[in-house]
Amino acid sequence: PPVLLCDYRAPAWRVTDVELEFDLDPAATIVAARLAVERDPSEPAAPLRLDAEQLELLDLRVDGRRLAPEEYRFETDALTILLAVPRARIETRVRIAPDTNTALQGLYASGGGQSRFLLTQCEAEGFRRITPFPDRPDVLARYTVTLRADKARFPLLLANGNADGAGDLDGGRHWARFVDPHPKPSYLFALVAGRLESIEDCFVTAEGRRVRLFIHAEPDAIGRCGWAMQCLKMAMRWDEERFGRCYDLDVFHIVATHDFTMGAMENKGLNVFNAKYLLADPERATDDGYRHVLAVVGHEYFHNWSGNRVTCRDWFQLSLKEGLTVYREQEFESDLASRTLRRIEDVRVLWRAQFSEDAGPLAHPVRPDRYSEINNFYTATVYEKGAELVRMLASVLGRDGFRRGLDRYFERNDGRAATVEDFLAALEEANDVRLSPWLAWYAQAGTPTLEASERYDAAARCYELTLAQHTAPTPGQPRKQALPIPVVVALFDERGARLPLRLDGEAGTAERERVLPLLTERATFRFVDVPVRPVASLLRGYSAPVRLRWNADADDLAVQIRHDDDGFNRWFAADALSRRLFAQALASGAPDARQLDVWTRSLAQALADPALDPALVAEMLSIADAGSLAEGLVDIDPDAVHVARARVETALAQALAAPLLARYGELSGATDAQAVEPAAQARRRLRNACLAAVCRADPAQLPLAAAQFAQARNLTDRLGALSVLLSAQAAGAEEALDAFAARHAGDALVLDQWLTLQAVQPHDETVEHVAALTAHPAFRWTNPNNVYALVGAFALRNPRAFHRADGAGYRFVADAVARLDTLTPQVSARLATAFGGWRRFEPLRRALMHRELQRLAARDALSPDLADIVGRSLAG
Ligand code: ARG
Ligand code: ZN
Repeated sequence: PPVLLCDYRAPAWRVTDVELEFDLDPAATIVAARLAVERDPSEPAAPLRLDAEQLELLDLRVDGRRLAPEEYRFETDALTILLAVPRARIETRVRIAPDTNTALQGLYASGGGQSRFLLTQCEAEGFRRITPFPDRPDVLARYTVTLRADKARFPLLLANGNADGAGDLDGGRHWARFVDPHPKPSYLFALVAGRLESIEDCFVTAEGRRVRLFIHAEPDAIGRCGWAMQCLKMAMRWDEERFGRCYDLDVFHIVATHDFTMGAMENKGLNVFNAKYLLADPERATDDGYRHVLAVVGHEYFHNWSGNRVTCRDWFQLSLKEGLTVYREQEFESDLASRTLRRIEDVRVLWRAQFSEDAGPLAHPVRPDRYSEINNFYTATVYEKGAELVRMLASVLGRDGFRRGLDRYFERNDGRAATVEDFLAALEEANDVRLSPWLAWYAQAGTPTLEASERYDAAARCYELTLAQHTAPTPGQPRKQALPIPVVVALFDERGARLPLRLDGEAGTAERERVLPLLTERATFRFVDVPVRPVASLLRGYSAPVRLRWNADADDLAVQIRHDDDGFNRWFAADALSRRLFAQALASGAPDARQLDVWTRSLAQALADPALDPALVAEMLSIADAGSLAEGLVDIDPDAVHVARARVETALAQALAAPLLARYGELSGATDAQAVEPAAQARRRLRNACLAAVCRADPAQLPLAAAQFAQARNLTDRLGALSVLLSAQAAGAEEALDAFAARHAGDALVLDQWLTLQAVQPHDETVEHVAALTAHPAFRWTNPNNVYALVGAFALRNPRAFHRADGAGYRFVADAVARLDTLTPQVSARLATAFGGWRRFEPLRRALMHRELQRLAARDALSPDLADIVGRSLAG
């Protein structure tokens, strides 16, 4: 039965102190725990329930006395003890087997051979696979942890908090003890033991605390940790300056692993990272890779306040820490690199991943009200839409007001497990405003559609903007309410000069940009003293996570592309126009010639504009991917979507062939091939976009790609060229693939990108090719990075091939899902979401996808993770 938000009850027993002793061994680790527990006086009858999974119970004592069998129950998921006293000391000893733990939850082993090491992942419910414990985030305890292990195999021993002694033991073993002074929930527990190499640095906080910073990685990776260390120091400084948050321990550790189901984990003082988001050097990381390291190092560090010091009362509140931390991460990168670019990337992700989630059977609110498997709720909705809600609140309160509110939130809830209500209450109090209408955004699933229409009365010099909102039903929520939607607007004349924004009846000086608050289903805003028919720039900076339906005049969009002073909205206008052309191509085979001309001429101007950020130009030239374009369609035919998209893309490439080639040439003389500054990255981005378009317009230009591939001095240029060769199925593409694999042999992260590049090719034979690659030495089913790089990319980022009309793509992915379910259920469940949209496809595909879902449902012994995704996909 699902867990319900409305059933929440405070824990009957609290744990104040935890002492853990680990005798580490990959085959059989012994965990001894001593818990000081206290009963809530209002719960006199409640037994002590400790979550426990896959533990072999060796010993159990209460206040030193071994229990008789009738005094406790040990079941598959819990150890329940009948206790008559109000407080007690519980001692358990269990045996666990990290070596065979392929679920990668709890204590497990990573890497191979000499460097195989032990580490933990506890969020959300992994701690119960280490020791019996009330494994819920509202039980906060102080931890003392002692690790013992063979010194030669595990020279490095780490746990959360400050070091508190270490020494040698008999038989070549040694020990180390750690004390974490900050009470924490069990999901933030971590330990690491192994033969890792380390780099060290130091940071002095604004409060004067000297913090030793360490990054630990396998010997072949430690040379690639320098960028992450720089990022960590930038993040620590930024959080002090922007949000007044200082670090609070004497030491901060980061550990890299290649075996991780997610991006990274914010364990107190001991972050664990997927190597993919930690390692970077010019030869082996792309520009995107560098930026992801910055973002994820920031994200996990920022959790120290938004997540760790203030944690979540229960897992329904997950977005309280994740939405807020994603927002903080976005602001960090926006302040340090390009705000416009980060915004465009975030909105693209939101559209591709979150809108489609919201439109299918797996739709859920940012704060879900039920779950059967919490691991399935680490979603785009909780993370990305959650961040959008924080962003809207921040824009409504203004920069200073939001800072005041956040200060209040941290102050009020420090050391506590909080709720979304606590968050809103702090923002309200600090700003003396009422934010309760915003709770509906947290509770209601589905993407609101915002419909805009306009009317200009030249004689009355009056411009009317009518805004209306509508949200379609989602599973379990047939009726939707109106939400507060902040619509930021500006008005321009056709040469791009700002027009005043004075609403009817207002006095005072007119503003140049303002927020129109849409609080009801529909509202009309009447601007007066508007001298000419204005060009409206709506939803500036993407001020609300809604689908904008607005039939703006193509020439008006062109004015925005050319003149809007919000970089995001320049791109937004270009994107809107390209989507319109796509829709025309899909409906009638060809885009409207006049609008196509308007679009290509605007982009030609952007391309020629030396003042425009080259990265923004590159983004304007890259039209949305097929998945995002199909969002909102019914009876989708993926082949038709592919063809229509290709028409639009080719039309642009042909119209701009000469200037694209010229710009490619200009950008090719660069001497900064190994520089990672934003400006150098931006030039590479545009250069690669030009190359792709030039070769698309005229395959005779493919030698340019071959030359770039051969001469590349960084991974971004090499992969960019290889991608062009592959998508054109150029002569020499196979040789280039082989050359790439040979050059990067043994480098798992780069070979993952090589796998992905092949998995996303929209060709007929990609299914068979991907299936064959599962036998490549660079691929292992037990490694989540490999699986996501190959199978995940195929299932979630290659609609053309995944949806091949004969169902071969579906079969391949469903077989992979079934196989992975016995290894790593979290990964299996995530891959299975590829079938979530089945009802939106044309009848043939719909039936084929449905059949694969049923085939999965019919298997026995499905993991709870997969059973949940398949069950909801079929029901929705
Ligand atoms: N809290 C981590 C982060 O956002 C993600 C952990 C996800 N773990 C999981 N089992 N789903 O940084
Ligand atoms: Zn997070």
